[in-house]
Amino acid sequence: MSERIANDKLRGKVMSPEGAAQFVNAGDKVGISGFTGAGYPKALPTAIAERAKAAHDKGDDFKIDLFTGASTAPDCDGVLAEANAINFRTPYQSDPSMRNSINAAQMKYADIHLSHSGMYMQQGFFGQLDVAIVEAVRITEEGHIIPSSAVGNNVEYLDAAQRIIIEVNSWQSEHLEGMHDIWRMPQLPNRIPVPITSPGQRIGSPWIDIDLDKVVAVVETNSPDRNAPFKPADEVSQKIASNFLDFLEGEVAAGRLSYDGYIMQSGVGNVPNAVMAGLLDSKFENIQAYTEVIQDGMVDLIDAGKMTVASATAFSLSPEYAERMNDQAEKYRDSIILRPQQISNHPEVIRRVGLIATNGMIEADIYGNINSTNVSGTRMMNGIGGSGDFTRNGYISSFISPSVAKDGAISAIVPFASHIDHTEHDVMVVITEYGYADLRGLTPRDRAKKMIAIAHPDYRPLLEEYYERANKGKFLHTPHDLPTAFSFHTNLADKGSMKG
Ligand code: COA
Repeated sequence: MSERIANDKLRGKVMSPEGAAQFVNAGDKVGISGFTGAGYPKALPTAIAERAKAAHDKGDDFKIDLFTGASTAPDCDGVLAEANAINFRTPYQSDPSMRNSINAAQMKYADIHLSHSGMYMQQGFFGQLDVAIVEAVRITEEGHIIPSSAVGNNVEYLDAAQRIIIEVNSWQSEHLEGMHDIWRMPQLPNRIPVPITSPGQRIGSPWIDIDLDKVVAVVETNSPDRNAPFKPADEVSQKIASNFLDFLEGEVAAGRLSYDGYIMQSGVGNVPNAVMAGLLDSKFENIQAYTEVIQDGMVDLIDAGKMTVASATAFSLSPEYAERMNDQAEKYRDSIILRPQQISNHPEVIRRVGLIATNGMIEADIYGNINSTNVSGTRMMNGIGGSGDFTRNGYISSFISPSVAKDGAISAIVPFASHIDHTEHDVMVVITEYGYADLRGLTPRDRAKKMIAIAHPDYRPLLEEYYERANKGKFLHTPHDLPTAFSFHTNLADKGSMKG
């Protein structure tokens, strides 16, 4: 048995994944660790999926409600979705099989802000949590859990669950110990200010204390986190990165930012990761991150001495960078802090540190409303993640995206967003490869001009045409021509291109 389980009582609970899965029953609410492909349980999901398949073969129902930190991986969300083992899922996900089940209405999915998801569980909005399954690097002599590559909602799920299953994964570096900062917000009505005033501040303990009597099983694993690699930065993403830097330079020129005062939040995805590569050659130094996930680009910034500290809740690294993090965790432990997602995404701290939020998007409309989640208004992509937490509360909020998707058949700038996650009130800057639209303080009609200017040249005439038509209407504060407001989307559905 692994020396990583130092507590005698919990050593007595070690069993096979199949044995542990017997503690998960049909209809259970199950809260697991895991955030953007990091720190999710590696063995139990497959064992639960097998139980579900065996039950289904006998004609019995077997589905669970699944609560996570955020997305996981094919060997977690993927196997459970493929086994038709999930009734309800929240919050963020990004697995293709799961996405298909959600969009086929075979699985219920509630897309909620990541900063809210732990609180929903604490306050009982979802009812009683039956089981928490959490991956650990190690269990201490006292029975404290050292989380692995994600903290997510571990604390909330471990506190709320009636039964606890711990997976101790020896693939995860033991040097992750000391990287985490676990702090519990006292429950309502006794909340207090979160005592963080700068991204690098530690306020809690490096472990999670749990009720040992609730632990029903401990499972040993040796399995890597499975993240998809990022797409290599292409010409478009390099231009977006360069436009983003122009925007930052403008802030410096205006006296609102200094070269050593940039505090970043960077969203998930290929484009935000590419933007970080652009910062490597910039004049910005001593960059700090108060963000949700550590991506490859941030590791490069740390290595280059450009970033001094990154506070997040999890890693979101390509396989190559995950191996590097594992090999050199001792070194990175000095500059990386992993916190519960209620704290990494906490509105109060986000507003206090004054960060610049930068997230990807599906589409924006000409007035600056942003759709981050639903393709053509109806088909779930991944979820809102933490983009709402950071956009609403950041000092400056920005969105970055290529101007077109699917070889030009889809424009990222549309007359009316087909689903709105971030309203015009929260969105300050939108950036494509054609420039940046600084919407701060502008009226809707002035916003429209700026937004059309950063659309792809193929779509600018169509957007101008729409805007002129809308301006013939009667009510001109936010001009719209409702019969054709979704013409881009109906063109796409009918003719395969938003151009029509
Ligand atoms: N319509 C249809 N598909 C679109 C689209 C649109 N308007 N815009 C992008 N896509 C597709 C792309 O074609 C690509 O598909 P592929 O994987 O089949 O190639 C996929 O979405 C990803 O797009 P990409 O341009 O590579 O951007 P990305 O990796 O940066 O992801 C989001 C963009 C919107 C999907 C991603 O940022 C996201 O999930 N955001 C919401 C959550 C969030 O912001 N979290 C941050 C929290 S801190």
